[in-house]
Amino acid sequence: MVGQDFTDILLPEIKNYKTIRSFKEEPVDDNIINSILEAGRRAPSAKNRQPWRFVYIKDQGVKDRLQAAAYGQEHIGEASFVVAIGTTNVDYKMPNGQLSYPIDLSFAASFMIMQATSTGVGSCVVTTYNEAEVNEILTVPYKMRIVMLISFGYPKDEQPERLLERKPLNTITSQKHW
Ligand SMILES: Cc1cc2nc3c(=O)[nH]c(=O)nc-3n(C[C@H](O)[C@H](O)[C@H](O)COP(=O)(O)O)c2cc1C
Repeated sequence: MVGQDFTDILLPEIKNYKTIRSFKEEPVDDNIINSILEAGRRAPSAKNRQPWRFVYIKDQGVKDRLQAAAYGQEHIGEASFVVAIGTTNVDYKMPNGQLSYPIDLSFAASFMIMQATSTGVGSCVVTTYNEAEVNEILTVPYKMRIVMLISFGYPKDEQPERLLERKPLNTITSQKHW
């Protein structure tokens, strides 16, 4: 169609996604929290093993301790809630020889942040934290790991306008050969 750009048909949640690092005090309703956790539950995983555990935290004291374990990132304490995405299996390898858990858990995280975005809830994926401290705070069992934290909340009004640049599509795609 004349004048139509393929980006017109992108999901708005994808087209407009940006990380949110400052949140309003307004709490996110439990129904919405549950919908975000449910989105993670519905994510695909290798052999449908679903090797995950989603620990959600609304408690201010625990959020503050997680913030300290994440080297003081203030959006963690400010968030309405935080989800720690953990793996229940650190050993399983897929037929390609690669570990499945970082991939499986990333799909769950993607589903969650898209569901959040569609309900107006902002998010920030966090991997900059001291894992041993997070394990202690959340009483993570031996051999299980928290792969990321995600802070969630309603974005404060003053957010950076600009979406961060992505590499142009033609520099990251190729047809038939690498
Ligand atoms: C695996 C991963 C780890 C990240 N860790 C952090 C983090 O520890 N702290 C933080 O503020 N942002 C973190 N981010 C957010 C990225 O910095 C952000 O997605 C990236 O700069 C692009 O910006 P945008 O999401 O606004 O487009 C992380 C994102 C991903 C996917």
